Amino acid sequence: MKVEIYEALNENYNLANYDEAVKNHNWKDIEKNFSWSETGKINMAYECIDRHVDNGKGDKIALHYKDQDRQDSYTYKDMQVASNKAANVLKNNAAVEKGDRVFIFMPRKPELYFALLGTLKIGAIVGPLFEAFMEKAVKDRLENSEAKVIITTKDLVGRIPKDELPHLEHIVIIDEDVPEEYVDFNTEYEKANETFDIEWLDKEDGLILHYTSGSTGQPKGVLHVQEAMLVHYISGQYVLDFKEDDVYWCSADPGWVTGTSYGIFSPWLNGVTNCVAGGRFSPDGWYDFIQTFNVTVWYTAPTALRMLMGAGDDIIEKYDLSSLRHVLSVGEPLNPEVIKWAHKVFNHRIHDTWWMTETGGHMIVNYPSMDIRAGSMGKPLPGVEAAIVDDQGNELPPNRMGNLALKKGWPSMMRAVWNNKPKFDSYFINDEWYVSGDSAYKDEDGYYWFQGRVDDVIMTAGERVGPFEIESKLVEHPAVAEAGVIGKPDPVRGEIIKAFIALREGYEESDELKEEIRKFVKEGLAGHAAPREIDFKDKLPKTRSGKIMRRVLKAWELDLPAGDLSTMED
Ligand code: PRX
Repeated sequence: MKVEIYEALNENYNLANYDEAVKNHNWKDIEKNFSWSETGKINMAYECIDRHVDNGKGDKIALHYKDQDRQDSYTYKDMQVASNKAANVLKNNAAVEKGDRVFIFMPRKPELYFALLGTLKIGAIVGPLFEAFMEKAVKDRLENSEAKVIITTKDLVGRIPKDELPHLEHIVIIDEDVPEEYVDFNTEYEKANETFDIEWLDKEDGLILHYTSGSTGQPKGVLHVQEAMLVHYISGQYVLDFKEDDVYWCSADPGWVTGTSYGIFSPWLNGVTNCVAGGRFSPDGWYDFIQTFNVTVWYTAPTALRMLMGAGDDIIEKYDLSSLRHVLSVGEPLNPEVIKWAHKVFNHRIHDTWWMTETGGHMIVNYPSMDIRAGSMGKPLPGVEAAIVDDQGNELPPNRMGNLALKKGWPSMMRAVWNNKPKFDSYFINDEWYVSGDSAYKDEDGYYWFQGRVDDVIMTAGERVGPFEIESKLVEHPAVAEAGVIGKPDPVRGEIIKAFIALREGYEESDELKEEIRKFVKEGLAGHAAPREIDFKDKLPKTRSGKIMRRVLKAWELDLPAGDLSTMED
């Protein structure tokens, strides 16, 4: 297969020479950008906001926000005051203390960012929840983390089963006319003091807890610590290529790791102007957003790019997108044809980046000063050692497919799976390699090429969904005896969720039943977790120990050989 190469432009990038940066890298040098390297006193919110005010940048815009009904901008000084007030509300009205888990469950609005920074200023651990989660998804996460407080809106509060969550002490509502049983954020915020004594932490203290899916078991809580900021900061320099005057837009929601690491921490640690788009995706809305704020650096995802591509090139003519200077993508394989299209219509090379919730920040990426080989994820971040290893942890030579692994110990590596040490340990081989669950190979020149997931994790429209969570929900439906869920390749969404279902005695197949089951998952778990396709089967393929063989379901679906069937019951 011929690889398309997009040559690097000869511009003044922060990372001019990749090989030199790799050779000279030392995390200790990067620490020197922060006062905590000497004082030992660390707090992410301080480094993101207050530090810039202390350095005379208080009047610079920190946040531009726009949705259909609202447009607001806030300076770094405004953000400092807003996060102080939020911290006071949470401390005084919801008793939040250092180390508590505080969940944030609301749509993207400026107040989400105030509350998140306020939570961090108290030294509590933030747990972001995607706004589309329904009751079961919310309950599982709050229960597992023993969350003390959740911040939400009146629309969403009904999905929080407070009576079943003994550790949940307060529900804080950011809305108008808040019923008395809840903490009324806006009213308390108006009265709150504008100053706050930031809680100083240690670099190994907790920062954020992101729940993410694997192929087995319930979603797991991936814990990151304060020191992760070294990766957020330096990748903002090397990968996002932040310069003082950049206006940056990351289209990801903070319910997912991209929306926090790169929608909050990285831009603000680097003191650039950050943009947040509220509301839903629409091609016109997105191009308009870039034009309105003169976005210079844009971080988005393959599904969004494919949807923009599908919307046609005529729309692009209507907007002035000339402010853009650097475009990046994350979350799923970036098809060479999308790179080609974007190069044609935007005159930009799209830089793919690879990383995961567990890695906390960029791991393998395309740097602006480097040629892009379309289809490759690029090369490891300076300071990160990557390799392709076999199941015993032996490194494989170039062009051999194997486990994409990272040498343990980079600053943004997850420190724990919440309450689940065995799960955490299961990520590592020989206590040396973190194994990603992705298969890949490395070419002779050190570029990495993604091949697929090793496990059954589904990536649909850039969102990571565990088949087990969906299967568990499906079997709660009275008609469902057994369910197996797989990802089916899809030209726009990467994969869609497909469920195979064996019905209970007395139920008949019908389109209405399919629709009802879909709705059941949508309303019980989350819209993005509902199967787009359902097939009814008399029986599902299982191992003798009763485990659904998703591999066989996938083979049925794709008309492939099913492989070794020796463990299958007859
Ligand atoms: O399979 C890889 C895929 O997304 C997985 C991680 O998902 P999540 O933890 O939700 O984080 C997504 C955003 C950081 C990976 O194991 N993935 C991520 N980036 C890429 C990718 N697959 C192909 N190419 C990428 N650039």
